[in-house]
Amino acid sequence: MKRISLTQYLVEEQREHNTIPAELRLLIEVVARACKTISHAVGKGALGEVLGSADIENVQGEVQKKLDILSNEILLEANEWGGHLAAMASEEMETIHRIPHRYPQGEYMLLFDPLDGSSNIDVNVSIGTIFSVLKAPEGLGVPTEADFLQPGSKQVAAGYAVYGPQTVLVLTTGNGVNCFTLDREMGSWVLTQRNMQIPLETKEYAVNASNARHWHAPVTRYMDELQAGVTGPRGKDFNMRWIASMVADVHRILNRGGIFMYPADMRDPSKPGRLRLMYEANPIAFIVEQAGGAATNGQIRIMDIKPELLHQRVPVFLGSKQEVDLVTSYHKEA
Ligand code: AHG
Ligand code: MN
Ligand code: MN
Repeated sequence: MKRISLTQYLVEEQREHNTIPAELRLLIEVVARACKTISHAVGKGALGEVLGSADIENVQGEVQKKLDILSNEILLEANEWGGHLAAMASEEMETIHRIPHRYPQGEYMLLFDPLDGSSNIDVNVSIGTIFSVLKAPEGLGVPTEADFLQPGSKQVAAGYAVYGPQTVLVLTTGNGVNCFTLDREMGSWVLTQRNMQIPLETKEYAVNASNARHWHAPVTRYMDELQAGVTGPRGKDFNMRWIASMVADVHRILNRGGIFMYPADMRDPSKPGRLRLMYEANPIAFIVEQAGGAATNGQIRIMDIKPELLHQRVPVFLGSKQEVDLVTSYHKEA
């Protein structure tokens, strides 16, 4: 079988569909290279002294792991000097990261969750990286946080890597979704799945069910119906999976369908859900929609939300379209 590398795929996309300008191609390659470096560090585990807590809190009030910080640094350093970026923003940094004056400033802005699934790092369960690419506003001088606050529909590219039994990179530039597998010996990304499509129907759901007592009524209604199984209103049994790494749950859903939920609940109204709009929900929503699925906050398309804050959280319902439409309709009825 002829192997197509990430580079070849990107060059051909640029040539045939003109969807990937040269600078964006460079950007994607640099992010992919950084993911390769993170994958290498993850794979070393205890031998690389990358496990455990760094004993510092990030802006979200979460204790950072060593690998959260290391992955953030790897992405920053890799992307600073290429001339393709105007600025970066990360789940692990309170404020945006401007490109140092010694380097040229480009026309794109990169956002990332450097290490998704932090609670799984020390127990050798799949984790990943999520990224989102926006265009800087025309005639941008010194970038500010406000320049990043664009709805997800403005993304020009998004992707995630999963560091699991295999390291994979799933990518969209708005022309379908493709998956690349890291050939660890050769150090190259090889195209292994073209045009991924999420099955319309499913019998699997992913939710942290320990939060059930805090859920709002529409979520409880939807979940009760799923759990009623073959004798309930849905007339079929559903199975549950919860990895606690969004990337890994989403990767399963891209491959065999399912619905992923992280709803807002009745606890802290200042925290509508757990996941972050700019680093997690938007890029994953872009990928899911490009693969024929749907992604809402219970009311509207995630990618139509006008962001107000860089680190804002958002309720998330995504995956197989029929299920997402159903749980969204329950919210609208309520
Ligand atoms: P992060 O490690 O970047 O903070 O993200 C973790 C997220 C997401 O990946 C996962 O689906 C969810 O948080 C897990 O939440 P629970 O701890 O409630 O299971
Ligand atoms: Mn995350
Ligand atoms: Mn993270």
